[in-house]
Amino acid sequence: MRKNIVAGNWKMNLDLNQGIQLFNEIQELLKVELSGEQEVIVCAPSIHLSSLAKSLEGSSKLSIGAQNCHQADSGAYTGEISASMIASSGAEYVIIGHSERRLYFSESNELLAQKLDVVLKNGLFPIFCIGETLEQRNGGTYFDVIKEQISEASFHLDGANYSKLILAYEPVWAIGTGLTASPEQAQEIHLFIRTLLAEKYGQTLADNTTILYGGSCNPKNAAELFAQADIDGGLIGGASLKARDFVDIIKALN
Ligand code: 13P
Repeated sequence: MRKNIVAGNWKMNLDLNQGIQLFNEIQELLKVELSGEQEVIVCAPSIHLSSLAKSLEGSSKLSIGAQNCHQADSGAYTGEISASMIASSGAEYVIIGHSERRLYFSESNELLAQKLDVVLKNGLFPIFCIGETLEQRNGGTYFDVIKEQISEASFHLDGANYSKLILAYEPVWAIGTGLTASPEQAQEIHLFIRTLLAEKYGQTLADNTTILYGGSCNPKNAAELFAQADIDGGLIGGASLKARDFVDIIKALN
């Protein structure tokens, strides 16, 4: 079932105390102010996950996610974190394929395919990111790039597994730059993604897949983006580090 979701990606920000404080502030605001059907996910640094899970109140509309995991089940990979560890922390989601992982950690579509497998095998839900660079947008190859990222990393999955994915379109040129994709630009790609899903898995799965927009989304531009037919919510970086801004973005999704 297609859902309305806003997910925060804290990236490598906030120490544990700051993280718990922000999480509790978000939770308090949501309790009072959230009346709609939105679901909210906070993707925190892995080392914070179990503490956040303990702060989570039963009735909360919040869930917790990680920002990455290793592709192997377990083993001699010093410093890495497995999907089963993330699941045991109380998190339910994992961001896979964020452009910062692709760029700074050389994560390929082939590697991301393995990561999607291990995340699903461990009962977690992937938030799978795709998006083109400024060069690719200006060069006019962005549809090809998006198609390649999606097909190479995720089209090996069967429909039952695919239905567990949340997709996030994050144009690299819009991340942390203050340059938001216009609602029309974002909608064009979201519709394109849904069309690719329909061709591969059928219209029902495509219609039921949640596709988030990410990239300089803030309380001012969120409503217009979320109003687009194929935009089902947002993946929020900088603005998710302030409880007021994050909750205002969530409230813009109705
Ligand atoms: P900003 O909202 O800071 O542009 O970051 C978006 C993002 O990368 C979320 O994953």
